[in-house]
Amino acid sequence: MSHNTVALAFSGGLDTTVTVPLLKEAYGYDEVIGVTVDVGQPESEFEEAKATAEALDVEHYIVDATDAFADLLLGAVKANATYQGYPLGTALARPIIAATIQAVAEDHDADGLAHGCTGKGNDQLRFEAVWRQSDMDVIAPVRERNLTREWEIEYAEERGLPIDSGNEGTWSIDSNLWSRSIEGGHLEDPGYVPPEEIYEWTEEPSGVTELVEIEFDEGVPVALDGETMDPVELITTLNEMAGAHGVGRTDMMEDRILGLKVRENYEHPAATTLLAAHEALESFVLTAETLDFKESVDDMWAQKAYQGLLASPLVDSLNAFIDDTQTAVTGTVTIKFEGGQARPVARESDNAVYSEAAASFNTEGITGDIEQGDATGVAKYHGFQDRLAASIQASTNVGDFAADGLSTDEE
Ligand code: ARG
Repeated sequence: MSHNTVALAFSGGLDTTVTVPLLKEAYGYDEVIGVTVDVGQPESEFEEAKATAEALDVEHYIVDATDAFADLLLGAVKANATYQGYPLGTALARPIIAATIQAVAEDHDADGLAHGCTGKGNDQLRFEAVWRQSDMDVIAPVRERNLTREWEIEYAEERGLPIDSGNEGTWSIDSNLWSRSIEGGHLEDPGYVPPEEIYEWTEEPSGVTELVEIEFDEGVPVALDGETMDPVELITTLNEMAGAHGVGRTDMMEDRILGLKVRENYEHPAATTLLAAHEALESFVLTAETLDFKESVDDMWAQKAYQGLLASPLVDSLNAFIDDTQTAVTGTVTIKFEGGQARPVARESDNAVYSEAAASFNTEGITGDIEQGDATGVAKYHGFQDRLAASIQASTNVGDFAADGLSTDEE
């Protein structure tokens, strides 16, 4: 075979570890480059990846993409993005990871791009949606060779591959700045109540409460309690703050792109807090009909994000609408952390579509020359068609009966 170099999305876990020798033996590549992309996962994961790559004698790169990822997360906040209640951490990270690996591959004149995803999940689709735009070959050994975990463990043991270190524990974890996902093991039984030990970012909610003031500039969170922060710092700080109050746990049945329903658990304290604050500010500064229409735009944005298809022309158009609405979304929201919840309790903005004088129970006038009494005409019309329909039905029934003496039941 004439193959030469392949870049592999590398975590050092079981799947990517067995993928390395397979790429050489079964696919004929001379050289495998392992790429681990930093999207804000814990330091220990890089150490594991590095140690495993060394043991496998693979050239290894760790590439920092946290700023690009954080920028995308701000876009997700503007779109209030959740999929079936999940703030899309894994989904949003994948296209950035894929593009970063592709850049390393291009630098090395590689011929192929490989991942260790199975054929059951979403991530294979998200990676390949990016990679198949390139001229390089796309290789998915776990899916193509229908590998099982048992087979992989046996294969690794036969070859003395380094698999007993690190995260091959009870659960399958995927973490980044935005969320931590926990799946597999007993959690695959939807009737199994997760033990406290699956959580690392969130404490069990206590009776303690805390307030935080979040400042937004055109839909983007820029400061916490008056302190300006860059996106990575702001998200990291909120993950700790809100996590201490048990904010942002999700236990759900998730509908994957392929149609499989799976049980998923997530932790996402900062995401839950920022999304709640952003929605609260939008409800203050956007008109009712903009809010109503934006809900469907947001929903489509989240669907494309879940599919890993944010590069689609449709999303460009959705973003144009979203960004246009966000010019008004400047102000502050106070969030109260309480009993595992992040609850908006105050909001301030120069752009509020709100008049205290108009809404107040204490003032006589409304606004301009509108008075309370002006609503009388509206009140007379309100429900007009319903009343008309009811009276027509009543008279038709009575009429039929009176005219030919038949029971209305025969209608
Ligand atoms: N089901 C989620 C998604 O597709 C997250 C999967 C994370 N993977 C994991 N091994 N925990 O977005």
